[in-house]
Amino acid sequence: MDPVDPQGWSEVDDFLAEQLIGDADRLDWVLAHNHSNGLPSIDVSAVQGKMLMLLARMARAKRILEIGTLGGFSTIWLARALPPEGRLVTLELKSHHAAVAQDNIAKAGLADFVDVRQGNANDSLNAMIEGKKESFDLVFVDADKGGYADYFEKVMQLAEPGATLIFDNVVRHGAVIEDAPKDKSGLGARGLVEAIAADERVTATAVQTVGSKGWDGFLIAHLV
Ligand code: SAH
Ligand code: DHB
Ligand code: MG
Repeated sequence: MDPVDPQGWSEVDDFLAEQLIGDADRLDWVLAHNHSNGLPSIDVSAVQGKMLMLLARMARAKRILEIGTLGGFSTIWLARALPPEGRLVTLELKSHHAAVAQDNIAKAGLADFVDVRQGNANDSLNAMIEGKKESFDLVFVDADKGGYADYFEKVMQLAEPGATLIFDNVVRHGAVIEDAPKDKSGLGARGLVEAIAADERVTATAVQTVGSKGWDGFLIAHLV
């Protein structure tokens, strides 16, 4: 196998997903539904979705916040980690994405656990901060990458002590360290890493990934 061949990374992801995730759990039907509704294939991969579920379960998360729903693929994985009294709020800008996600979440039997809120995540976060009623013990950020540092600041106002924060797409095929990246999301990722590095309220790491989604990475922060 060629270590720098993305085709090989994808084949390994397929093998791992087939081995470690049962057919009924893999959510291929969600991806098919998203595709037939014209949504882009920018969901997390199946093995990454299951990792999110396991992290939420290990953190014993009861109140999960997601920023960037798309068709609800990562939402369903995260919601599967919730105990019966647990709840997930997911924020999505595009009404078409939110509607497709709502449909998928209902088909997955999770409609009672998940609240899809359509609108700009910045507005929804501001409303939650002002409302002072909602707080979260696990947050997954996966929306517009340019807003990551701002999302971090807002999420910190909604996060409980000991909360876990997870950010997707913080490497963007290396763009995170380029000064003038072709992929502008690299600048957003860089701003987030620098903001987190300078913030004593959290301790964090980031891990690069390869797989069916190319070369990217997750940042995980824990409130100290
Ligand atoms: N978490 C999903 C993928 C999300 S893709 C999964 O892994 O299955 C990113 C999503 O963020 C898109 O649906 C996009 O419409 C949404 N988004 C972009 N900017 C946003 C904003 N300002 N507020 C809320 N959602 C936004
Ligand atoms: C994009 C967004 C994502 O959340 C992702 O995982 C991959 C790509 C994008 O906007 O291109
Ligand atoms: Mg992503």
